[in-house]
Amino acid sequence: MDSICVTGGAELHGEIPIAGAKNACLALMPATLLSEEPLTLMNAPRLSDIKTMSSLLQSLGSEVQSLQDGKVIAMSSSGPVNTTADYDIVRKMRASNLVLGPLLAREGHAIVSLPGGCAIGARPMDIHVTALEAMGAEIELKDGYLHAKTSGGLKGAKVPLRFASVGATENVLMAATLAKGTTVIENAAREPEIIDLADCLTKMGAQIDGAGTSTITIQGVDRLGGATHPVITDRIELGTYMLAPAICGGDVECLGGRMSLVEAFAEKLDAAGVSVEETPRGLKVARKNGRIRAIDVKTEPFPGFPTDLQAQMMALMCTAEGVSHLEETIFENRFMHAPELLRMGASIDVQGGIATVTGVERLKGAPVMATDLRASVSLILAGLAAEDETVVSRVYHLDRGYEHVEEKLGAVGAKIERLSDR
Ligand code: UD1
Repeated sequence: MDSICVTGGAELHGEIPIAGAKNACLALMPATLLSEEPLTLMNAPRLSDIKTMSSLLQSLGSEVQSLQDGKVIAMSSSGPVNTTADYDIVRKMRASNLVLGPLLAREGHAIVSLPGGCAIGARPMDIHVTALEAMGAEIELKDGYLHAKTSGGLKGAKVPLRFASVGATENVLMAATLAKGTTVIENAAREPEIIDLADCLTKMGAQIDGAGTSTITIQGVDRLGGATHPVITDRIELGTYMLAPAICGGDVECLGGRMSLVEAFAEKLDAAGVSVEETPRGLKVARKNGRIRAIDVKTEPFPGFPTDLQAQMMALMCTAEGVSHLEETIFENRFMHAPELLRMGASIDVQGGIATVTGVERLKGAPVMATDLRASVSLILAGLAAEDETVVSRVYHLDRGYEHVEEKLGAVGAKIERLSDR
């Protein structure tokens, strides 16, 4: 199994190209099920999660082609579709649940496996289910599968979400494009990936108003057509690479980055002593003089500080001057990187949803284990700042969400290599 070996201490200088957003692409791909005409996505990231979604869609009867070295995904769902999303694929990735809304909208029925427990928390699907029930679906849980059906198709409805769930907003948004009448999603998630999905659906002929705000109104149409759509920049990959020069020193321009994608995060970086400047090509990040200062962070739905950058920010705080508090409010068990960072000499105390980090002068390299996607990259960032060698094992988590991490960091001067035989 692959591992990544990092030797800390090098300053970073240069450019890192930021890929298309994994989370946007995973929501855009199931939209192929809403139309019999082709849907082509450009600027797709080359990640194992994208391959998992391709396999799921193929198992449902869609044609999915990966072109231009994976940067273009050409999909077509012109034939009959199979309406059962099998556990064997769904268990690999929670985002598989995003086929539920489109299948229900297209066929009026679907059987989708529950994704099961995930390392970062329970992650139930009650918000998706309640929302689709409000649109006339009858949904039952049998043998680990959600059995959903409608009589005469989905109907537009007022759909208040008890929490602004990203996935539930995406599922309802897709389902509502083909429902009869008007759907109003209240307390909708406002993430940029929702806007990207709405933009693509609009190109396909959907009538959507308010994406990016808490109230999204969708007027159902009879059919959707095809579209070609570029996936937006990955704000989590962007934030992760913005932390690399912050933690190591130096300056890096993240190509394709925009301030509007990472505003809350960039404000925290500024407070910690890292400058972020928008350039015509992206975001230029440099550590200001002196040691990083401790700051407090609380994760929140967009536009707040993203939970998907909490682990990486903790890596930065491990060597900051002072004490920082990182509060996780989105997932109940998202501090599994903390024990691994302790092995590298960090000082972290986790009590419930708050991690208190007391900065140390220097971390020390150690063998550590990746526990989930964002945790694994936080250990790489910590390794870049540590003395000697850090070997991060179980990096299959990393490959789910970061393309060519060792090449991107290596190109700006990091000492990092992938080991295939350890
Ligand atoms: C998406 C992102 C993920 C990110 C998360 C929060 C994708 C593919 N993944 O995940 O990277 O960390 O948003 O920004 O886009 N919840 C329920 N019931 C539900 C649905 C969610 O209780 O029916 C809870 C979850 O357990 C979690 C919280 O709501 O505690 C947020 O979940 P949600 O916004 O749905 O996240 P995902 O769409 O799964």
